[in-house]
Amino acid sequence: MSSTQIVRRFVKPLVFVGALAPAGWLVYNAFWGDLGVNPVETITNHTGIWCLRFIVATLAISPLRWLTGFNPLSLFRRPLGLFAFFYGTLHFMTYFVLDHSLMFDGVWEDVVKRPYITAGFTAFVLMIPLALTSTTGWIRRLGGRNWNLLHRLVYVTGLAATLHYFWKVKLDTTYPIYYASGVALLLALRAWKAAAKARAVAPAGRARVAPQA
Ligand code: HEM
Repeated sequence: MSSTQIVRRFVKPLVFVGALAPAGWLVYNAFWGDLGVNPVETITNHTGIWCLRFIVATLAISPLRWLTGFNPLSLFRRPLGLFAFFYGTLHFMTYFVLDHSLMFDGVWEDVVKRPYITAGFTAFVLMIPLALTSTTGWIRRLGGRNWNLLHRLVYVTGLAATLHYFWKVKLDTTYPIYYASGVALLLALRAWKAAAKARAVAPAGRARVAPQA
C-alpha cells in the first residue's frame, strides 16, 4: 500500500474525528449545562479560536510538504480549510443568532463601528468564495491559474483573523501574538518559496534573450 493510500484510508478519518472533537465538546458541555457563567461568550470564543487554528493548519500544509517532501500532506489542505469554514460559520452564527437575534442591522452597525468586528467579518466573508469553490469541479471551471489566484485570499483571511483576535483581546495579547507570528512565518515561507522559484526561472529567461541581443 502506498503512503498516499495509508493516509487516505487511516489517517484522514482520524483527522476528521479529531477536527469534530471541539464541536463535540460544545454539544457535550451544553447538554450538561456546563458552558460557564456566560455560555454565549464561551461558544463564541471556542468556535473563534478553533476557526483560527484550522486556518493556521491549512496555511501550514504546503510549507510542511516542501520542508518534509511528504506529498500526501496535501490531502489535508481542503478538509482543514473546510473545517475552518465550519467553525467560522458556527462562530458567526452564534454572534448573529444569540448576540443579535438575527437582526443584520445590528451586526452591520458593529462591522462599521468596531474595528475588531470589521476584521473578523472580513476574514469570514473572504472564506465564503474559498469554501464554495473548493471542489474539483470548480478547479476545472475556473482553470488552475485563476483558482490558485482566488485561493490566495486565504492569506488575507489569515491576516484579518489574527488582527481580529489581537484587537478583541485587550489585556493579555500573548496568544494573539503567538498566532500572528505563526501566520507571519507561514506567509514568509511562501514568499521565500515564490522568490526562489522566480530566481530559478530568471537565468533561463535571460539565456533565451541573450543570443538575440
Ligand atoms: C475567520 C473568521 C474569524 C476568526 C478566525 C475569529 C476568531 C476569533 C477569536 C480567536 C476570538 C477570541 C477567542 C478568545 O478570546 O478565546 C474571537 C472572538 C470574537 N469574535 Fe471572532 N473570528 C472570526 C470572525 C468573526 C465574525 C465574522 C464575527 C462577527 C461578525 C466575530 C465576532 C466575534 C466576537 C463578538 C468575539 C468576542 C466574543 C466574546 O468575548 O463574547 N468573529 N473570534
